[in-house]
Amino acid sequence: MPHQVIVRQLPEPITVEDGDTILSAAQFAGFDYPCGCQSGNCGACKSMLIRGEVELIPYSEFALSDEERAAGLILACRATLLSDCEVAWLEEGEIAAHPQRKLSCSVASVEPVTHDIRRIRLTIDSGGPFDFSAGQYAAVTFPGQPVRDYSMASQPGEKELEFHIRLVPGGKVSPYVLDRLQPGDKVAVEGPRGISFLRENHSGPILALAGGSGLAPIKSIVERALKLGMKQPIHLYFGVRDERDLYLEEHFRALEKQHANFTFTPVLSQPSGPTERRTGFLAEAVKADHPALDGAKAYLCGPPVMVETCMTALSAAGLPREHCHADAFYTEADKIALNKGAA
Ligand code: FES
Repeated sequence: MPHQVIVRQLPEPITVEDGDTILSAAQFAGFDYPCGCQSGNCGACKSMLIRGEVELIPYSEFALSDEERAAGLILACRATLLSDCEVAWLEEGEIAAHPQRKLSCSVASVEPVTHDIRRIRLTIDSGGPFDFSAGQYAAVTFPGQPVRDYSMASQPGEKELEFHIRLVPGGKVSPYVLDRLQPGDKVAVEGPRGISFLRENHSGPILALAGGSGLAPIKSIVERALKLGMKQPIHLYFGVRDERDLYLEEHFRALEKQHANFTFTPVLSQPSGPTERRTGFLAEAVKADHPALDGAKAYLCGPPVMVETCMTALSAAGLPREHCHADAFYTEADKIALNKGAA
């Protein structure tokens, strides 16, 4: 049965027939897709699988290493679809080549930061060192729970790994984390993964857009950029429903005082009372503040609908999608809704 693939850099989804590859389907639809040998030997078509399942027909280890495959990379010329998918081909300098690690960790602390978000800190007991790029995520397994993807909120090289975990109503893992996780519990962490990481050589303005616990990787990106001494304007927008959903405000206000090029703007979408803060949707605030975005890059993390509306607003302001970096995170409920939509 044919499936659809969204390629981040292309203007419309492509239909991939049974047994066809992403590359040949894109070419058949009249699009250019980076490629070379078209036979799984050169690696020129290397792409990140953002969502969905593919099967790779045989290819050379030279074109795609086991570590890259484990990190979520595929070869478009070898990838047939097992479901609807979303991919992005890698641009120059886009590969964060860190060794894949399987870490055994212990919970160092569990800290409530809002009514429904916990900040978890882990110490690495074995399997390190854990190198990653700011903005990447890992597969995390809490005791007796199914594996879930969470972004690192800490910076590369820090002693502890930090994750922000929000209660997902009806979820399985997040209620466990909020109600039962204790310091000393053992946690498995595998990664790093993802392509939405800080481009450290970029010198244009940075827009860092977070919704809810999507603040985790955005915090890592912003702190890393400031630590590296990146001098361009760095704007962090944090979208939440109401006052009680805001966290780490003092932390970012302190960074604002230390760095003249950094601004922090919380935006409340559903304030329950009068407020002097910005209100409305994140996309509207960003659009109003940045009508033109020459040379900028955006990093986004949050609920899929927030990421999509912000990307649309950024495109309208002239920022091409390839300069918008977001790893899509779907809750189990999101996945069920998507599958129903596809059925
Ligand atoms: S084009 Fe060479 S590996 Fe795909």
